[in-house]
Amino acid sequence: MAEGSKIISPDVQKVTKVTHYSDGLFAFRVTRPQSLRFRSGEFVMIGLPGDNGKPILRAYSIASPAWDEELEFYSIIVPDGPLTSRLQHIKEGDEIILRPKPVGTLVLDALTGGKRVYFFATGTGFAPFASLLRDPETYERFEEVIITHTCREVAELTYGRELVESLADDPLIGEFAGQVKYYPTTTREDSAKMGRITTLIESGEMFADLGLPPMDPATDRAMVCGNLAFNLDIKALLEKAGLREGANSDPAEFVIEKAFVD
Ligand code: A2P
Repeated sequence: MAEGSKIISPDVQKVTKVTHYSDGLFAFRVTRPQSLRFRSGEFVMIGLPGDNGKPILRAYSIASPAWDEELEFYSIIVPDGPLTSRLQHIKEGDEIILRPKPVGTLVLDALTGGKRVYFFATGTGFAPFASLLRDPETYERFEEVIITHTCREVAELTYGRELVESLADDPLIGEFAGQVKYYPTTTREDSAKMGRITTLIESGEMFADLGLPPMDPATDRAMVCGNLAFNLDIKALLEKAGLREGANSDPAEFVIEKAFVD
């Protein structure tokens, strides 16, 4: 190697855009390593160098679709969180660490064929669905795509709402946008639809609002991403409706993943 030449690690990527939302939420885009192949819905480890030289890494769902030439992430800011308390200050041109080894269960390959797919998200659990909603394969596989997003407050819905609204103008996805039904709910601030999604499923209100029949393993598939208690409660409801949990190696009717936090 020529003297003075610099080794640029393939694990370092440049920030290209940062968007802050209220309530300690932000999204950012970074360059994509050429070697990275992933399936929409998967996650990678990203982070920043720590004070002792050891990187602080956390799992983050990739919020951009598999075809995008950049990578997008959606994050909460945990005030005392070892990573997000620092990550919140990144700006265009900064570098982050990204390990290009995608993994995860929220992939279309883990579901058997069906008529409609439900994406159930709480909080930043929306991120993997931001990827899947922008992937044409989702619409080739399913006639109807229902995305529910439950947050405490209205402002926390902004990233998801803007993303869903942008689908109609997306050159690749626009033609499929009519297949999407968006169902945002809040639990601690007044909005057009209030309540935990689990309650709205159990009462039948969600199905009535959307004009859909109750869940049926013959036609319905589901992907779930939220906090642990939410995931367990939804899982129980899906199993009660006769859906079985699938995996990459054994596709079935639903898959679940925890939304990652600092
Ligand atoms: P709630 O306000 O009633 O707790 P969090 O910010 O704690 O991760 O929660 C995100 C959203 O998920 C909130 O609207 C919260 O409602 C809801 N939620 C939390 N736990 C559950 C659960 N076990 N079942 C359904 N929704 C839940």
